[in-house]
Amino acid sequence: MARLLIEGGHRLCGEVEINGAKNAALPIMAAAALAEGESVLERVPPTTDVLTMARILRELGASAGFEPDGSCVIDGTGLSRHRAPYNLVRRMRASFYVAGLLLARLGRAQVPLPGGCALGSRPVDFHMRGFERLGARITVEHGYMVARTAGRLRGCPIYVERASLGTTVNLMLAAVLAEGITILENAAREPEVVDLATFLNRMGARVEGAGTDQIVIEGVDRLHPARHQIIPDRVEAGTFLLAGAITRGEILVRGVNADHLRAPLRKMEEAGALIEQVDPHAIRLVMTGRPRALELETAPYPGFPTDLHQPFVSLLSLAQGTSVIRETIFDRFRYVDELRRMGARIRVEGQQALVEGVKRLTGAPVEAPDLRGGAALILAGLAAQGVTEVQRVEHVDRGYYRFEERLNRLGARIRRLDPKRPSPNHTLVPALEC
Ligand code: EPU
Repeated sequence: MARLLIEGGHRLCGEVEINGAKNAALPIMAAAALAEGESVLERVPPTTDVLTMARILRELGASAGFEPDGSCVIDGTGLSRHRAPYNLVRRMRASFYVAGLLLARLGRAQVPLPGGCALGSRPVDFHMRGFERLGARITVEHGYMVARTAGRLRGCPIYVERASLGTTVNLMLAAVLAEGITILENAAREPEVVDLATFLNRMGARVEGAGTDQIVIEGVDRLHPARHQIIPDRVEAGTFLLAGAITRGEILVRGVNADHLRAPLRKMEEAGALIEQVDPHAIRLVMTGRPRALELETAPYPGFPTDLHQPFVSLLSLAQGTSVIRETIFDRFRYVDELRRMGARIRVEGQQALVEGVKRLTGAPVEAPDLRGGAALILAGLAAQGVTEVQRVEHVDRGYYRFEERLNRLGARIRRLDPKRPSPNHTLVPALEC
């Protein structure tokens, strides 16, 4: 198990280039396998989730690999197996996207049900009902969703419950090769959906309305390979900005799309950060004093993203006053017990956390409960007095590529203890002056 040792109390300062969005890359990798021929995807972040998706695609007969320049090349020519392997799929819920791919390409799919995860019960019932509406016969057998269709899927209007991102994506993957027109009502409006639509259209699909709550997909007979650059990771960008804020530092994130970050940037300002949009792709954050308490509620895009709730609470745990955080998407409070061990005063009532700000956190051994909860603990460790040991960092590696190395370049003091991946001794990196 990988661990991070964090010596807290160092102010972060400097510039960081943001990677492509993993939550856009994952569905786009599945989309690339809809076509025969090599699609080239630039700016795919090689996080472990992305590597898992590449492995699953290879298991299904497609080819998926990385070029020396970092681009990801996917060719769906060999896609022939319709049963996705449990040992890979269980690692990541987004693996379920191969269901849409397999139904569209092979007319059959056997994909393990993801089951519960660290964020609580996360069913795929909306996905399955959508596939049924498109004409697939669905059964659940031995832990697998078994889907079959005689001939092509048939387009139709579908209401996407709770504007689910994953359902919107999976149904887009299935519907682009269906016969006729599919209309997704109450579709997710996340930038990752827009990026998928852009890529699909580059492949010859006919998708309109992505970014609104109504997406219209006119099925085509076949798709061709395409080249595409993945959008910047808004959650990674937000996390680095919050790392700057919690250490009262000065951070410039580059290679971002500021439009995708409106809601979290407004909340960072409300908490007392000075935010400057240097240009459409660069944002500077400066934080001088203690953060101010605030109220915050997660919501589907363009609302405040649930994926930044946990890192934001780390910041608010040091605020002046009491903050109220309402989580409306997932059951995402497991990190709170760990933050409390560092001195945070947080009470969870149902789907709401009351965060009474304290003057200081103190380093402690803590365990990352999930991806964003792990990031939250790392941020808390950056600000805490003394040394924090964050265990189970593999959760964090799923979504942040070389997180600690990039934080160290900004002046953090973090050392990875990883039996599988020894890394240079970062305690030797001198803190930067800023
Ligand atoms: N839901 C159902 N049934 C379904 C599908 C969803 O009940 O069949 C519920 C979920 O349990 C949740 C709500 O509907 O309460 C919305 O979930 P959604 O489907 O939108 O989430 P997701 O597609 O499973 C993606 C991201 C998450 C991100 C959420 C919300 C990927 C791979 N995952 O999950 O990202 O938090 O949308 O924006 O894109 C992360 O990156 O750490 C992460 C968890």
